[in-house]
Amino acid sequence: MNILLLGSGGRENALAWKIAQSPRVENLYIAPGNAGTSRVGTNVALSATDFPTLKEFALAHAIDMVVVGPEDPLVKGVYDFFKNDAQLASIPVIGPSASGARLEGSKDFAKAFMMRHNIPTARYESFTAENIDKAYAFLETLEAPYVLKADGLAAGKGVLILPTLEEAKAELKEMLSGMFGEASRTVVIEEFLSGIECSVFVLTDGKSYKILPEAKDYKRIGEGDTGLNTGGMGAVSPVPFADATFMKKVEERIVVPTIDGLKEEGIDYKGFIFLGLINVKNEPMVIEYNVRMGDPETEAVMLRIKSDLVDLLEGVAQGDLDSRTLEVDPRSAVTVMLVSGGYPGAYEKGKVITGLDEVTDSIVFHAGTAEKEGQVVTNGGRVIAVSSYGKDKDDALQRSFANASKIQFEKKYFRSDIGFDL
Ligand code: AMP
Ligand code: GLY
Repeated sequence: MNILLLGSGGRENALAWKIAQSPRVENLYIAPGNAGTSRVGTNVALSATDFPTLKEFALAHAIDMVVVGPEDPLVKGVYDFFKNDAQLASIPVIGPSASGARLEGSKDFAKAFMMRHNIPTARYESFTAENIDKAYAFLETLEAPYVLKADGLAAGKGVLILPTLEEAKAELKEMLSGMFGEASRTVVIEEFLSGIECSVFVLTDGKSYKILPEAKDYKRIGEGDTGLNTGGMGAVSPVPFADATFMKKVEERIVVPTIDGLKEEGIDYKGFIFLGLINVKNEPMVIEYNVRMGDPETEAVMLRIKSDLVDLLEGVAQGDLDSRTLEVDPRSAVTVMLVSGGYPGAYEKGKVITGLDEVTDSIVFHAGTAEKEGQVVTNGGRVIAVSSYGKDKDDALQRSFANASKIQFEKKYFRSDIGFDL
């Protein structure tokens, strides 16, 4: 098979690494990829959202399957573009239709979907500038802190949690007057939930599903979960509190009604579903849906999938996922992200990365790197994910931390407390 994978981050390097292990793969292309994906496949300098150019490439290279890493092409309709084009219709795209991608692309849609299907989530209402007075009145019925969410995609920055009613009202007004552009013309206000979070990943062909290993990610830049939010500083799988009892509740109350709900509503969905969950006194509740794998969770979760991922993806494409097997590695897997100094604020790119060849007993995934004059250089805030196996999380973390210290670039930073709260 010839596979085209879309995206360029650590998640895509981990997916590419796993896909490339399949004996079924002849050629793996990554558009646009990074310096890490080029070690397991062929990078092609194409934008993941330039659909007409992807079409030309897919036809010229006899692509048999397209795997979509990030949400952007999905929300923009890459699935539908292929399905509705006579020349491309026979090439399966792993990822939902644009209609299904609204689970991530519109928080208002996602919340209403959960209400329609009785899926446990925080109480909420949605508002626009026209009914701001009602929004203020709704805020007054809630207790601090206050959760405001831009309806649309806002590069992971669209959620504000405010400590006082006054600040919540002021920020709400800003959001509705375009703080996040069109994305915050509608704002979801919801009840604050208190608990510990985890990410559960589901692969579905639209009828049946497989629950992939869960993970916990660490979003804040500082140790002890302090400071600004980032794209993710590390991840751990499995998550001890996501035991069999908890996961049974997740399956019965969230996974099954989600898949059935999509089917009932006639929404085409063949791909990954990411459940952002919070454990509220041992009851799982949905904080958010994403329509892709998580980053950096994928850099841990792929290590724990023993089965051939391409076989599972083929099951998704052919609608016989229930006849495929998912075997999970019982070991722990973790990832530790090396980032550029200054991130998530301003940082410099183009720093030479050394020591990659000295890594032993860990798997290095590139997140933001590029190749320049034969050297690997930094090309983003999150640079390298160092993933390891271990008999438990501490054993795995020890390997990742040891190797994180061997890799060098100017102003490198990483959190040495990943997994501290588990
Ligand atoms: P989201 O973009 O929806 O994942 O929200 C970003 C982060 O805000 C989540 O990972 C949570 O940590 C937090 N968050 C979102 N909604 C709530 C909520 N209702 N209660 C508590 N924390 C929340
Ligand atoms: N790790 C969170 C995300 O991928 O959105």
